[in-house]
Amino acid sequence: MEVIIKADYDEMSREAAKIVASLVRRKPNCVLGLATGSTPIGLYKELIRMYKEEGLDFSKVITFNLDEYIGLPRTHDQSYHYFMHDNLFNHINLSPQNVHVPDGMAEDPEAHCEWYEEQIDEAGGIDLQVLGIGGDGHIAFNEPGSSLASRTRMKTLTQETINDNSRFFEKIEDVPRYALTMGVGTIMEARICLLLCNGSKKAATIKKAIEGPVTAMVTASVLQTHPRAIFVLDEAAASQLELKDYYKWVYNNKPE
Ligand code: PGA
Repeated sequence: MEVIIKADYDEMSREAAKIVASLVRRKPNCVLGLATGSTPIGLYKELIRMYKEEGLDFSKVITFNLDEYIGLPRTHDQSYHYFMHDNLFNHINLSPQNVHVPDGMAEDPEAHCEWYEEQIDEAGGIDLQVLGIGGDGHIAFNEPGSSLASRTRMKTLTQETINDNSRFFEKIEDVPRYALTMGVGTIMEARICLLLCNGSKKAATIKKAIEGPVTAMVTASVLQTHPRAIFVLDEAAASQLELKDYYKWVYNNKPE
């Protein structure tokens, strides 16, 4: 596990973008797993800047998103399909046929989830998976109690997640109750997992994920068993970490 602590949200976003961009430069046809939510917006902004100003080339990159609400059409401004186009895809040179977001309107969700897993396999697996973390410790929509071996499937959201996400909807009743989500097992197969977390509101949660026991009660904690998990945090999110000074020391003393 690598824990990188940056001063604030902008620095966290730039650091994460550097990690993603270095993979895209090294492997132009890499497979990126992407996340939605407020957290990665700064990362996406920085990738767009790198595309526009530095010629970072996404033409061969393949993407898979973690999750999607059930029941929202792609055109709904709170669907994750819409979010990704609005915040990233419309602004870089990704090929539309290389973009994958689970379909929350699929007639047969189970068959669709199986198909989604097959598409990931056919693409050669995910090279780098971007992750946020929920207030309840979830990665993607793998709520507490999710099997740590789970695959892409339908999940019922917790009340906490519904409350957290209600800020994006007119009223709380409009927040979907169900989602399609990659499983914890699916995420763990990514070659690199890159989790971003900012803000004091999530300090206690990220402490559990990084320094607490590995438990299905905090699905992000399973990343402790991943061979290449990188956490990029801002100071506020890192404030409760016991080994905070050590993580900084490691970062500042990396061998060449
Ligand atoms: P947020 O959501 O980035 O909007 O805080 C993170 C998550 O629920 O995974």
